Amino acid sequence: MPNINRHSVKTQEKHEFMKVLGLESSCDETGIAIFDTESGKISQRLYSQIERHREYGGVVPELASRDHVTKAAPMIQEILQEGGDIDTIDAIAYTRGPGLIGALMVGASIARGIAWALDKPVLGVHHMEGHLLAPMLAEEKPEFPFVALLVSGGHTMLVDVEAAGCYRILGESLDDAVGEAFDKTAKLLGLSYPGGPELAALADSVECSQFKFPRPMVNRPGLEFSFSGLKTAALNIIQQNNPLNESIRAEIAYAFQQAVVDTLRIKCTRALDHTGYTRLVVAGGVGANRGLREVLENMTEQRKGWVYFPAVEYCTDNGAMIAYAGAMRLEAGQKDEDVFDVLPRWSLEDLSAVQDSVP
Ligand code: KG4
Ligand code: ZN
Repeated sequence: MPNINRHSVKTQEKHEFMKVLGLESSCDETGIAIFDTESGKISQRLYSQIERHREYGGVVPELASRDHVTKAAPMIQEILQEGGDIDTIDAIAYTRGPGLIGALMVGASIARGIAWALDKPVLGVHHMEGHLLAPMLAEEKPEFPFVALLVSGGHTMLVDVEAAGCYRILGESLDDAVGEAFDKTAKLLGLSYPGGPELAALADSVECSQFKFPRPMVNRPGLEFSFSGLKTAALNIIQQNNPLNESIRAEIAYAFQQAVVDTLRIKCTRALDHTGYTRLVVAGGVGANRGLREVLENMTEQRKGWVYFPAVEYCTDNGAMIAYAGAMRLEAGQKDEDVFDVLPRWSLEDLSAVQDSVP
């Protein structure tokens, strides 16, 4: 039986260089970018809907879709005014999944509309492949193979990346994603949504803590994660120490962040041992965390290996990573069939290989 989640790609001739317009709209960020594979130049625009969702304490899908509708087209016009005529665009890439169905449909409709009007190839990109390849936008690019740690608001996974498009999931979170655990614990500490960066800043304001959180699932073999227990541990500590003063809040944030970072370090070490790879790539919103970066830099240095992070602006959702991942496949001659669909649930393992990787 055919796997309906497979990339519906068909092959065309290969392209030497391309200028690709990328659209990201899987959640609460509208990201538009143009990536030129010849010069490596990126122009991008990003609109974050965080203020709109803040009062609800999380993303409201219907509001997210509506915001993408109003923001995406003017942003594309703006970026084209700066980055050249629409006729100079060779292809369009957009986020096909995973993500919020309505939000994905907006990006897909706009991308496919432009592609049909201009008679250009179009390709739907896997959001996590975009994150995973974001370090390729840096000057110093990781070579294949590598282990990828993907840590965002919706996903936590370790992936064996043998080559571009060849992904094997080594372990995932059984419950909350790391970013989600940051956001939920931040909420308990009275920080506003999404609390990850604010919790990190609070944690960085102290140098030690009287509290100790568990390191979930590190005493069992395997590469699965579980982070939901950390928010319960945080709740217990908060209830025992009520009313919280500023220094107690900071110490709780510090101990929570340490537990997360330590757990991720242990599992990344295990994944490197398991695969025998020397390179680790970290991507997704939580990849912006300074404490995590430092600890993983030390760990890989001790093993005489390497760790790669995207620039902080490319850790969280953005259009550049979608333009890049799309360009890689489009240059290799892939494009989508004329079928309109989005994939709110889509496994990385269902992607097809890209023979000629890295534009
Ligand atoms: O990748 P991303 O932008 O969106 C998803 O695809 O989910 O990740 C957003 C997540 C949020 O949970 C946010 O709180 C978290 O990344 N985040 C951080 C930091 N910056 C963003 N978590 C911890 N420390 C940070 N510095
Ligand atoms: Zn993301």
